[in-house]
Amino acid sequence: MDHFLYRDGILHAEDVALPEIAAAVGTPFYCYSTATLERHFRLFQEALNPLPNLVCFAMKSNSNQAVLRTLANLGAGMDVVSGGEYLRAKAAGVPGDRIVFSGVGKTRAEMRQALAGGIRQFNVESEPELMALSEIADGLGLTAPIAIRVNPDVDAKTHEKIATGKSENKFGIPIARAREVYALAASLPGIEVVGIDVHIGSQLTDLEPFHQAYAKVAELTSVLRAEGHDIRRLDLGGGLGIPYERSNSAPPLPLEYGQLIKDTLGHLDCEIEIEPGRLISGNAGILVSEVIYVKEGEGRDFLILDAAMNDLMRPSLYGAHHDIVPVVEPAAAAETRGFDVVGPVCETGDTFAKQRALPHLSPGDLVAFRSAGAYGAVMASEYNTRPLVPEVLVKGDQFAVIRPRPTFDEIINRDTIPSWL
Ligand code: LLP
Repeated sequence: MDHFLYRDGILHAEDVALPEIAAAVGTPFYCYSTATLERHFRLFQEALNPLPNLVCFAMKSNSNQAVLRTLANLGAGMDVVSGGEYLRAKAAGVPGDRIVFSGVGKTRAEMRQALAGGIRQFNVESEPELMALSEIADGLGLTAPIAIRVNPDVDAKTHEKIATGKSENKFGIPIARAREVYALAASLPGIEVVGIDVHIGSQLTDLEPFHQAYAKVAELTSVLRAEGHDIRRLDLGGGLGIPYERSNSAPPLPLEYGQLIKDTLGHLDCEIEIEPGRLISGNAGILVSEVIYVKEGEGRDFLILDAAMNDLMRPSLYGAHHDIVPVVEPAAAAETRGFDVVGPVCETGDTFAKQRALPHLSPGDLVAFRSAGAYGAVMASEYNTRPLVPEVLVKGDQFAVIRPRPTFDEIINRDTIPSWL
């Protein structure tokens, strides 16, 4: 459930009519709903209750500081994957002891930065990384709390570009080698083992792969404890999928996911961390765009929008589906026809949908891409010198621009021309 609903025939974000925002901000723009963000975050907290837990929002899915602050105010931690995300989380007011640092290629500079600024734990993905972290922490006279990300070799049954838990993926340490790597960790200065980390992929629509992975983590917890490691935290990653196509998909609910966690790991007396991104932010955001032209082609009609692949990459990158709805509600009996929905960028890949059934639309009409709050704005670029798409946050009847559209001067003046030219 989200808070983008038609009221009196006009799509609203909570209590704000989208044409009102479009008039103030221009199109295209991302629009997020506070109530939806909060609701989704709380679903996870409730699902894990009464286990001691920290829900760390995977801020790679949406890193606007207003979104981070909204969630942090409810007690969220953050899962960061770069020094930039770390600084952004801090800037949004998240304390270091609520930040976990994931990622396969942390640099020494990033390690130093997080150790100095305070960190809850590093999720370490390789032996070389472990050695580097030991050296840096020891050099600073600090101790780095760590979990080792194990790769459980399970098939997440998701898009190949976002599956991470198979042995052929670049992520984590093969679970069969975990004992060896934990022994190494225990022997190193500047390292304190606090737990185990696992993340098997994103947009999972079935609980079975989680079940397989978490059962392996449960077993590993007992094995490592027997070897003297103080495993007190389990970071279970993110990945629970969302219904991109409302008409035909119903992925498992956070409550069912929480129950699975309790069933597989609840007896271990560990603090549970999870790192959901998409389920919190995905359906809390839409991308609003204006129709520029309706072009009748050879055997197919094109709806040409002012949003393009640089604003929302997911369809061209992953062939992802986003529901597209007109902002003015069509009559129940309105006829639809198939359109190829495209942007103005000079590539055939700049196609959001092929032969999508839509009602009659005219230039100047607004449409909204649903489920665009995760991996939307964060993956946008200025390809074709198209300004980075702005972001707006709604709360009840208020809205605020939380990242303005850059001016052309700002974009163009970022280049510098060398003196020899
Ligand atoms: N934790 C780790 C270590 C991750 O790598 C990810 C996502 C998450 C948590 C959050 O997963 P989520 O709950 O959002 O599924 N750009 C792609 C998604 C990439 C996901 C990468 N890792 C997309 O648009 O579908």
